[in-house]
Amino acid sequence: MSVHIMVFDSGIGGTTVLEQIQALIPNADYSYFMDNALLPYGSQSQQTIIDRLLALLCFIESRALQVDILVIACNTASTSALEAIRPYTNIEVVGVVPAIKPACAISKSKHIGLLATPSTTKSRYTANLISTHSQGTRVSLYGSTTLVEIAEALFHTQILNEAKLAKVLSDLAIAEEIDVLVLGCTHFPLLASAISNYYKQRIILIDSGKAIAKRVESLISLRGLTFTTGKKKPLHYYATAPICHSQLSIELITLTDQIPRGNH
Ligand code: DGL
Repeated sequence: MSVHIMVFDSGIGGTTVLEQIQALIPNADYSYFMDNALLPYGSQSQQTIIDRLLALLCFIESRALQVDILVIACNTASTSALEAIRPYTNIEVVGVVPAIKPACAISKSKHIGLLATPSTTKSRYTANLISTHSQGTRVSLYGSTTLVEIAEALFHTQILNEAKLAKVLSDLAIAEEIDVLVLGCTHFPLLASAISNYYKQRIILIDSGKAIAKRVESLISLRGLTFTTGKKKPLHYYATAPICHSQLSIELITLTDQIPRGNH
């Protein structure tokens, strides 16, 4: 049996990570899970996100999906809930966190920006990440959930709302001296070329997709997991809410809190 890798996000942002993993490991079995009923996660509370991930683990178990590696391809969920859910599963769980360390390493101006959801920019996890890896580099934080909406619309309709994007970026007023911008939300690489154009290619954009793919690859060899060669299997999509205009063939499911709030 092939290794089964499930990639999870609140929406289609995780496909930017999935793409990098598939480029390294083309023949694994893949499924993609979006909890779009609660999109954007960037405005959800930490407890809500923990509860949703626990419900996801129950769903995987109840369906006997035999997931070997669960990639939480969502910075918001990873920074706010990953540690809380690990004790509840034997599945290898891989998270995505903003690429602060490599961004600091390549910044010449020693001033970088983190562009993420408000929940990620405010999380304690992110604060620790910055204080551990930013020595000598200033890190300015910029939060937006509207960029998530723009990326979702672009993915499903192939139409980029350039005016809306320009307005968001103008309102964020990213500091002039910033030379590296961390895309700390997996939706944002979908907008990378448009963001780069807006700044006239003056700012280097960096995300965690490739690093996560390498981590998954090394876990596969560490755990001795295998995959068949030959024909690629179709990707199975799950979603928790219907999506208008989507070309994807999606299985709609309901995630229900398994553990009553307050008991974990
Ligand atoms: N794609 C997710 C992330 O990486 C979050 C998007 C959302 O707010 O739902 O943070």
